[in-house]
Amino acid sequence: MSTIQLKTPIPGPKSKALAVRRESALPRGLSHAAPVYIAKAEGAVIEDVDGNRFIDFTGGIGCVNVGHRAPEVVEELQKQLDRFLHVSVQVTPYESYIELAERLNALTPGKFSKKTFLLNTGAEAVENAIKIARAHTGRQGIIAFEDAFHGRTMMAMALTSKTHPYKAGFGALPGDVYRIPYAYCYRCSYSLKYPSCDLFCARHLEDTFKRVVASEDVAAVIAEPVLGEGGFVAPPQDFYKVLIDICRKHGVLFIADEVQSGFGRTGALFACERYGIEPDLLVSAKSLGGGLPLGAVTGRAEIMDAPGPGGLGGTFTGNPLACVAALAVLDMFEKKDLSRRASELGAKFQDRAKKWQKVWPLIGDVRGLGAMQALELVRSRETREPAAEETKQVMDYCYKHGLISLTAGSYSNVVRLLVPLVITDEQMNEGLNVLEAALHSVAEKNSAVPQSV
Ligand SMILES: Cc1ncc(COP(=O)(O)O)c(C=O)c1O
Repeated sequence: MSTIQLKTPIPGPKSKALAVRRESALPRGLSHAAPVYIAKAEGAVIEDVDGNRFIDFTGGIGCVNVGHRAPEVVEELQKQLDRFLHVSVQVTPYESYIELAERLNALTPGKFSKKTFLLNTGAEAVENAIKIARAHTGRQGIIAFEDAFHGRTMMAMALTSKTHPYKAGFGALPGDVYRIPYAYCYRCSYSLKYPSCDLFCARHLEDTFKRVVASEDVAAVIAEPVLGEGGFVAPPQDFYKVLIDICRKHGVLFIADEVQSGFGRTGALFACERYGIEPDLLVSAKSLGGGLPLGAVTGRAEIMDAPGPGGLGGTFTGNPLACVAALAVLDMFEKKDLSRRASELGAKFQDRAKKWQKVWPLIGDVRGLGAMQALELVRSRETREPAAEETKQVMDYCYKHGLISLTAGSYSNVVRLLVPLVITDEQMNEGLNVLEAALHSVAEKNSAVPQSV
């Protein structure tokens, strides 16, 4: 029996009524991918207020790698509801916070002594990683990448690359942020080809220290090991080793933002493991909380200890519900081998997507690591002109036919896969069938020659 069940045209009448209320109650700046209002969610399936059932390829933007309402997470939350909700770790601390820090210290890459500080969101964790890096090095400069996304608060926004809608009109942005090209091989900023480029983009950091900002003024380089909002770009295997060697030579810290690439998404608990690298500071959030808001900065103990007492904090940081949820998430990763499942799901996606790419020129690039997979859509294989409008048409077709999916990319022309890792094979195939039908429909509409897989 199919998982997708559509009882009304999408959006249904109750969703439409909520959309009217939304329009008058919420600011237009808060946009959404699909106009369906949700009543419940379980695993990789969500049901809207009209009783329509959808397969979810977005996991709340990569926040439920363990699935919606994972039973293990819900059970721990229920127990915590009977204990206490909020006391603030800055007033009277509690054990779950300490236990979570201990486990993250042990699980994040690097055999050195580590400490962890918990926050509420990814952006807040990024902000704090920058504070800690500056306090430790006594330097101000931060180097970020083209196509990076680090969040929507002031410093995180300054580190973010895409102008519209994230930065335009919101300045003045915090200073001392410098930007260099990422290893986005499909759109190489230097028009070079890997591997003959010899990782020019990574080596160029040396040049940046001569021509843009002196290394002794730079506290850290911050990178997403695999680009998230920027289009799910996984750099070549040796990119980070070259980059980090240069950082170390100059006493510059390396911060890995694993907010989107973390918690099993790429086939390892952290994408850094896939690259064999050990960041000085690792920022995590999203799927760490199993659906609850939680962020973390984990790093070398001596760096984490740089800010003095009271220098780090926040009323709700590491709230008790989120801490017990995260402990359940980590247990699930140990028991269910979800990272291996991520690799299986990624292989399934690649298998289908490579076939689609042979048939439809619309699909310029198929790429990813583990289950962090994407399609980049283009108007022409030769010019690689981004097909943003067509990408939106694909997304619209998907939700109207029972699949919730998301775009990404600086040119809004990437279809990304953030499926909960607990999805069944049947549900995954059903979701991919809808995506295939969407691509077929959009590719045919935009091409003179009808084609099929
Ligand atoms: C890599 C990365 N860093 C930071 C953030 C910001 O996280 P949050 O939205 O929880 O503030 C995101 C959000 O998508 C992200 O993908």
